[in-house]
Formats: sequence, structure tokens, C-alpha cells
Amino acid sequence: MVLDEAKRNAAAAAMEFVEDGMVIGLGTGSTASFFVEFLAEEVEEGLSVKGVPTSEATHKLAMELGVPLLPVEQVERIHLTIDGADEIDAHANLIKGGGGALLREKIIANASDHVIVIAYAGKVAETLGSFPLPVEVTPFGFTLTAKKVYDALRKTGIDKPVVKLREASGKPGPLVTDGGNYILDCECKTIPSPQATALALSVIPGVVEHGLFLSMTRTVILGDEEGAEILEFEY
Ligand code: A5P
Repeated sequence: MVLDEAKRNAAAAAMEFVEDGMVIGLGTGSTASFFVEFLAEEVEEGLSVKGVPTSEATHKLAMELGVPLLPVEQVERIHLTIDGADEIDAHANLIKGGGGALLREKIIANASDHVIVIAYAGKVAETLGSFPLPVEVTPFGFTLTAKKVYDALRKTGIDKPVVKLREASGKPGPLVTDGGNYILDCECKTIPSPQATALALSVIPGVVEHGLFLSMTRTVILGDEEGAEILEFEY
């Protein structure tokens, strides 16, 4: 409950960046869901915005709560995206994809004028890697791709990585993402050169996307049970 309060405080603080008329990327996960709830309350009060969800789960939530949505094919500009993160380093680099939505999240973040990450303060780490790095891969050839992912992690300074296929929860077999792909969760412990690892992963055939979000956000809002702190980063 304390954790929920921290997430809710981070989400509430993000509302001050929302302006009438904006197209807003809606992130995925429990913290982003709190933001969608706050946004829905303002929409009810007359705020005019359009949301662009980053997952089927967020799409469903936003629809249920009455947040107007824009099909991604019709989006010309995304003014603001509010999303969660699984780990945040001292330079606002992120690991994302714990909720399996990293591909859509990265497409929307990359297309946004401004990305704000909301999270409870315990997600900050000096160096990325405590949270297993999600890598989305095509089902075809995924065992071969997993070997190349392992090699790429080793070559970029990660000692003894463990690469595991993510299982679906509540049913047998692998988790299938909204895009019809699988996820490899890579236990790295520490990622000494995130840029090198990101590059090495992105050139592997079969890798659709990876969960390293580097230099994609300049605003991080960290919540705790007392309130929220807004951190601004320069590149
Ligand atoms: C979804 O794929 C992730 O990138 C989420 O943003 C992340 O898992 C954060 O989730 P919580 O807000 O539930 O911690």
C-alpha cells in the first residue's frame, strides 16, 4: 500500500505537465495506470486531450475510464508521454519492458516531444542491471537469437549473463507480446556500458527491440509516501 501511495504521488505530480489540447502517450504498468486514472478525472472535468496507449492493457484501461484515444496511425505529433520504468540510473537511462510493452513504449517515446518517467523512488540505481533486461525477439529462431544475445552481453562487459525466455503467467508456454513476439529476460547484475550493449543487441537479426531506453527522457518524477520529486536532466 505504501508502494502504491508512492506510485500514485509520482503519477499525480505528472499531471502538472498536462495541457489542454495535448496528444499524450500513455505508458504501461501500475504507475502509468495511476496516471491514466488521474487523467480520466480531469477529462471528466472538461480537459480536452487525446491518448495514445502503449499496450493493449493501457488501451483497455483508458477506454474503460473514458479517456479519448487516437489510433496510432492517425498521430501526427505526441506532445507528452508519461510512462513508468523498471530501473533508472543517475543519467536518466532506463530499463523498461517488465510489463512486456517495451516495443510500443519505445516507438511512442521516440516520437514524443517530451517523455516523463514516473516511478517510486526505489527504482533508482547507480548503474543499470539489477532488473533483468528484457529483449523482445521473434518467435522464429528464438533459441538461436538467444545465443547471439548472450554473446552480445558478454562482449559488452557483462559477466556471466543468464538469458531466460519469459513464461506467460497463468498458462503454460512463453509470454506473447502485443506484437506477437517473445521476451528474453537477461540477468546481467550490472551493465557497465549501456550504449555498447544497446548497439550490440540492436544489430542482431531476430531482436525486435531491447529494453534499454537511453537518453530518451529528461524528466523523472520519483514518488514516495510523502510526495514526489521532479528531476530534470540535461543531455
Ligand atoms: C512496461 O513494459 C514497463 O516498461 C513498465 O513501464 C514498467 O514495468 C513499470 O511498471 P510499474 O509501474 O508497475 O512498476
